[in-house]
Amino acid sequence: MNKVDVVLGSFYGDEGKGKIIDYLSQNADISVRCSGGNNAGHSIEIEGKKFAFHLIPSGILNKNTIAVIGNGVVVDPKVLIEEMKNIEENGYSVGNLKISDKAHVIFPYHVQMDKLQEELRREDKIGTTARGIGPVYCDKFERCGIRMGDLVNGRFEKQLRKNIENKNEIFKIYNYETINAEEVVKEYKEYAQILKKYVVDTVTLMHNAIEENKKILCEGAQATLLDIDFGSYPYVTSSNPTIGGVCTGTGIGAKYIGEVYGVLKAYSSRVGEGPYITEQNNEIGDTIRELGHEYGTTTKRPRRCGWLDLVALKYAAMVNGLTGLAINHVDTIGKLDKIKLCVGYKKEGKVTMDFVLEDEEIKKCEPVYEEFEGNFGNIEGIKNREDLPENAKKYLDRIEEIVKVPIKFIGTGAGRDSMIVC
Ligand code: IMO
Ligand code: MG
Repeated sequence: MNKVDVVLGSFYGDEGKGKIIDYLSQNADISVRCSGGNNAGHSIEIEGKKFAFHLIPSGILNKNTIAVIGNGVVVDPKVLIEEMKNIEENGYSVGNLKISDKAHVIFPYHVQMDKLQEELRREDKIGTTARGIGPVYCDKFERCGIRMGDLVNGRFEKQLRKNIENKNEIFKIYNYETINAEEVVKEYKEYAQILKKYVVDTVTLMHNAIEENKKILCEGAQATLLDIDFGSYPYVTSSNPTIGGVCTGTGIGAKYIGEVYGVLKAYSSRVGEGPYITEQNNEIGDTIRELGHEYGTTTKRPRRCGWLDLVALKYAAMVNGLTGLAINHVDTIGKLDKIKLCVGYKKEGKVTMDFVLEDEEIKKCEPVYEEFEGNFGNIEGIKNREDLPENAKKYLDRIEEIVKVPIKFIGTGAGRDSMIVC
């Protein structure tokens, strides 16, 4: 049986999942997004052209791959339609797009509520992407959400009007602009017409594909440390971007899961607020940001940058059961003279490999670093791991040795082909 392979983020997002997904989806019959929404931003460079994906699985660029937006995803139809247009304008087809009838829909009140809630958090803000992600998942669990199936079958108006009425009561309290129900109903009826033909029961679609021995690839968005359960709560997103979210977000049972690849960078980064123990809020962080072009795909925010944290990576390997690592930006880190790797946390005089999530506990920890030589030179065209310069090999070997998960992909540059497949 062809197993379902999974690509997940190992840190705080933006690890370059798009690059690995792009490579693996070339052999996939189906490429599926499982969780999150347009808070994700996956950029892919093909023949010098940059594509930014927020909702549609990037497998859509392969002619024969069916791209599925799974039930665990939250869909902003306006953003989705724009993304579809952009793909078509660049000469690709969206004919192979399928959207789960069970995926929840983002409405303007979700986006507005996201902004209001951030304001109310005052100095404790999360730094959300303001795309309505938290509020739409709240409605899903509160059981007043509207799903794609309801939207395209015209069964949403009553619930929508009720929701708008309720949300407007809250907006009034805070002197926020209220939502005009007539306008939203009209707007979403138009979206429904455009999207109707893409909405199907994706659970059955995927199970039929598994039966037919087709290859399925799950495209993770966000990342382990942003997970609502396993991340640095409350500085997290409102879904499960870890392995469990793959099953609940697609309807694929655990026994069908094959490889679970954890994507990381040779350094680390984070957008938004929250603890980050190996952050270099200094010249080194600034240098990494410039060398790695670490500015958000979704919100354009400058990313916080720092050294790679193997305590966190070990935790990601544990929580997700990673079977392989994909390490990007090895070329970028190789531009530095000296590289540091966090190999433990020192807490009250003792060095530990136990990952710490609590803000207060992190304050008691100090990262323990090993130092490596940089200056890898130009590694972009290298196709075999053995051909990498000694300094690069030492760095990668040490990561593997500590985390005890084999490196399967090594990113050596921005382009589609700049990668070593081990
Ligand atoms: P990809 O898929 C990086 C972060 C936000 C914020 C927190 C909560 O591109 O790796 P949300 O809008 O989800 O409620 O924001 O999560 N965040 C991401 N950071 N990459 C992402 O996705 C992210 N998706 C959410 O910055 O700190
Ligand atoms: Mg991103």
